[in-house]
Amino acid sequence: MEQLLESIDPGKVPAHVAIIMDGNGRWAKARGLDRSEGHVEGVNTVRRITEIASEIGVKCLTLYAFSTENWNRPQTEVDALMHLIGIAIERETPDLIKNNVRLTMIGDFGRMPEDARRRLQGCFDATAHCTGLVLNLALSYSGRWDIVEAARRLASEAASGSLSPADIDQVAFAARLSTAHLPAQDPDLLIRTGGDFRVSNFLLWEIAYSEIEVFDKFWPDFSKEDFVRAVAAFQKRERRYGMTSEQVGSSPSRDIQL
Ligand code: FPP
Repeated sequence: MEQLLESIDPGKVPAHVAIIMDGNGRWAKARGLDRSEGHVEGVNTVRRITEIASEIGVKCLTLYAFSTENWNRPQTEVDALMHLIGIAIERETPDLIKNNVRLTMIGDFGRMPEDARRRLQGCFDATAHCTGLVLNLALSYSGRWDIVEAARRLASEAASGSLSPADIDQVAFAARLSTAHLPAQDPDLLIRTGGDFRVSNFLLWEIAYSEIEVFDKFWPDFSKEDFVRAVAAFQKRERRYGMTSEQVGSSPSRDIQL
């Protein structure tokens, strides 16, 4: 691990890493366990990856913990997941504070069960002063849901006269997405575990220029080393944002012009 860490350029750490944590169910099934046991083990991976992300200087870590579509899973699994998320967040709060990690979320908070909402809110409040890593959970979230919400906000501002339709541009649109509060809105690096090459309705607007790393491993088996490997692979990529290699090489700024 030490050698692996040394291979990382501290000046080029991705500011925002987003993860599709897939494979908990398959991990459990392969061991003859209930799917919810896979989610329990998945929480341990969340802790590990939060630690290493914070350690190497990532500013924001967004985890896809529960999608809008996940509400359609069997009720017993939905209930188990909601309970697990609430309990885990409450239990981890003291450690998050100790490590200066601030918890935030994106998604439909109002659709979460009351008990989970209370525990989450407790953690948002208790970590609000933390200035290190932002741990951002996507809960009852989907990219299309968020885009529609942003469109509705713009439409209502336009209807009330506080915004002119001519002023709706990419900056105005991005400012109405639920990710607008993050220290870096667009993920530099998107990691998916579980081997599937798909985006699954995650951060559709924000991943326009994200670098993608897919791991065959199931989420409960994803290690700190795997995370650092993904960052090392990211650092070898040339991000061109639609330009040529020569243009990117001569440009001091790597920001996309919206
Ligand atoms: C995907 O695996 C995983 C989820 C839908 C839930 C992930 C949630 C956790 C790891 C708990 C999060 C906890 C906190 C504290 C953030 P899957 O069930 O889709 O697996 P499969 O593809 O093998 O069926």
